[in-house]
Amino acid sequence: METVVVALQKQVPEMEPVFVAVKNTTTFDHGLGSVLNPASSCLLIKQNNPSSQDGAYFLIGKDGTIYQAYCDMTTAGGGWTLVSSVHEDDMYGKCTAGDRWSSTRGNNPHYPEGDGNWANVHTFGSMGSATTDDYKNPGYFSISASNVMLWHVPNNVPLKEYKTAAYLRYRTSTGFLDSYGGNLHSLFKDHFPIGYNLGTYTHDNGPAIPIVYEQGSDHPVQSMLPPNIASRKEAIPGFVQFRVFNLERACHAVCPGVNFVGPNAEHVCIGGGGYWPEGEPRQCGDYASKDWNGYGTRKEWSSNKRVIESTILFFYR
Ligand code: G3P
Ligand code: CA
Ligand code: CA
Repeated sequence: METVVVALQKQVPEMEPVFVAVKNTTTFDHGLGSVLNPASSCLLIKQNNPSSQDGAYFLIGKDGTIYQAYCDMTTAGGGWTLVSSVHEDDMYGKCTAGDRWSSTRGNNPHYPEGDGNWANVHTFGSMGSATTDDYKNPGYFSISASNVMLWHVPNNVPLKEYKTAAYLRYRTSTGFLDSYGGNLHSLFKDHFPIGYNLGTYTHDNGPAIPIVYEQGSDHPVQSMLPPNIASRKEAIPGFVQFRVFNLERACHAVCPGVNFVGPNAEHVCIGGGGYWPEGEPRQCGDYASKDWNGYGTRKEWSSNKRVIESTILFFYR
């Protein structure tokens, strides 16, 4: 490539500044994770070059799509790929336009699985706006991983500050994804389907995986719970749980930071199906019913404002 660039520069001298600019970016080389040599995951880049640092790299999906992804190359040895984010754009909009991780088409019992994005290969959003809107890249269904890492990041934080701004960062370490197809796409598609009325909270909730904290601890997770959830001991900090139903058989995709053991998961868990029967449509949406007793009030079943106005970022390794 160097030779080609030099030849082109000789032929078209006015293009020189363009090439100089490109050459100065960290990714314009032949290293794994560069635009000319995209990797299938951040882990492979880290293994290939152990001195890799946090930042943007080029990856290639199962279907050949080349995309840029953010890699955390330092947490617990690094090699973590940011694959998705769940963002609540409008707590008052109940299963409206921005609710891609539940339903963008209303609270509808005839549409039990909602938009289906937990288990399909649709992609949306971008690495740089992962805290400003929902995000899902081809890595979500392409990468074969063993563990997940979740970051709780205030909305609208720029890419370079995701890590420092995250007030909770934790990861699994048991390798649980090995048992469920190597990623969340397979986990939901083949093992724990998302949909209203597919099960009960007493018998059919999915796995609760213990977490290791990199930032934070059980204490802040506990203090983020709505008061009624805490007093009734409906959620146990120190886990991340997948596919959790509530009393009315509404289905949630992920309970960040907790193992949910009670009937009112809609106030803590995120994403899910397309129908919540209780008080309809007040519980439908990416952040379900975190505002049941008012927006950001932290009264009864409501979360505080920081919870509602933060995005959950998902990484694989
Ligand atoms: O999710 C909260 C809703 O179920 C109300 O519960 O019985 O305490 O009024 P309750
Ligand atoms: Ca959303
Ligand atoms: Ca309830």
